[in-house]
Amino acid sequence: MEQYVIKGGNPLVGEVEIGGAKNSALAILSAAVMTDETVYIDNLPDVRDINVLLEAIQKIGAVVERIDRHSVKINGSTIGDISVDYEFIKKIRASYYLLGALLGKYKKAEVPLPGGCNIGSRPIDLHLKGFRALGARVDIRGGSICANAENGLVGKHIYLDMVSVGATINIMMAACMASGYTILENAAREPHVVDIANFLNSMGANIKGAGTDVIRIRGVEKLHATHYSIVPDMIEAGTYMMAAAATKGDVLIKNVIPKHLEATTAKLLEMGCEVQEFDDAIRVIANKRLRRTHIKTLPYPGYPTDMQPQIAVVLALASGTSVVTESIFENRFKYVDELARMGSCIKVEGNTAIIDGVEGFTGARVSAPDLRAGAALVIAGLAAEGITVVDDIVYIQRGYEDFEVKLAGLGAEIEKVSSEKEIQKFKLRVG
Ligand code: UD1
Repeated sequence: MEQYVIKGGNPLVGEVEIGGAKNSALAILSAAVMTDETVYIDNLPDVRDINVLLEAIQKIGAVVERIDRHSVKINGSTIGDISVDYEFIKKIRASYYLLGALLGKYKKAEVPLPGGCNIGSRPIDLHLKGFRALGARVDIRGGSICANAENGLVGKHIYLDMVSVGATINIMMAACMASGYTILENAAREPHVVDIANFLNSMGANIKGAGTDVIRIRGVEKLHATHYSIVPDMIEAGTYMMAAAATKGDVLIKNVIPKHLEATTAKLLEMGCEVQEFDDAIRVIANKRLRRTHIKTLPYPGYPTDMQPQIAVVLALASGTSVVTESIFENRFKYVDELARMGSCIKVEGNTAIIDGVEGFTGARVSAPDLRAGAALVIAGLAAEGITVVDDIVYIQRGYEDFEVKLAGLGAEIEKVSSEKEIQKFKLRVG
């Protein structure tokens, strides 16, 4: 088991380059099997979730050729199996995107039903409602979702009862190869919904309105080859923005789309942080203690739930009392008990965290409860006096490429270790 060991207290200073969006890539790689021609995808993040999904895609028979660390060629003409193994869904829920992709292409698919995960129970009823509306028979058998549309998929007017990124994307994928016209109402507007729509359109799909809450899809019979570059990861970028803010640093975050970061930027400005926007970069300068603000997580363009733990760390060090309301997932405050070990003062009541800012943290041994909370604990460690050890970093590696390398490039004293001996060595080295 690997850990991060951090000697905190240094402001982060310098430049960092952001990679492709993990959540876009998960859907785009799945959609890549929808054509029999070869699809070339670049700006792929080299993170665990992506590598697991590529294995799943290979396992159903597609040819996956890694060109380099950030690009891949996929050919779905050799797919011989429309059922995805449980081992993949256990590791990454998002392998359920193969359901929409395979159902769209082959009119049948079988994917194990994902269970809950660390941040909440995460039902997928809306995905299934959408597939059924398109004319598929969907049953749960032996723990798997079996979707079958012997007579083909037929476009439909579908209303999503709540805004769901996953359901929007999954239904969009299936609908783009249905016959006729689909209107998807109350659709998610996240940048990666737009990215996947752009990707599918580049393969010959006819999707309009992605990025608004009504998506219109005219089904096509076939999709074709494309060469596509994934958008920058707004959550990775936001995480470095918060790391700069928490450590009173000055960081230029490059290869971003500032528009995607508006909610994060707005909150940092409210807290008294300086944020400069450039065409494809953003600079965060925090040379003083920031002040409190309130946060409520919402679907895009609201404040993202995936950025909630990271800003909570910044607020826990700001002056005054902040209230953070988590309105998307029910179990996203698991980092609070870990952060308490570093000296934070946070009380959780239901879906609300009341944060009394403290002057500083002291390093401690903590465990990453999930991906984003894990990143937040690393930020806390960077801001804390003394040594922090973050256990269970396997969660962090699911979504952050070279996290420790990029942070070290900004002056952080952080190392990835895998034994107590290495932790001791680090401590001796940094004094
Ligand atoms: C995606 C992101 C995740 C992010 C989340 C919210 C990926 C791979 N993951 O997750 O990082 O935190 O969006 O921005 O892109 N819901 C239902 N029924 C459904 C589907 C969703 O009740 O069929 C509920 C969920 O429990 C949750 C809310 O809708 O409360 C939003 O979930 P959703 O947008 O679907 O999140 P994911 O797509 O799973």
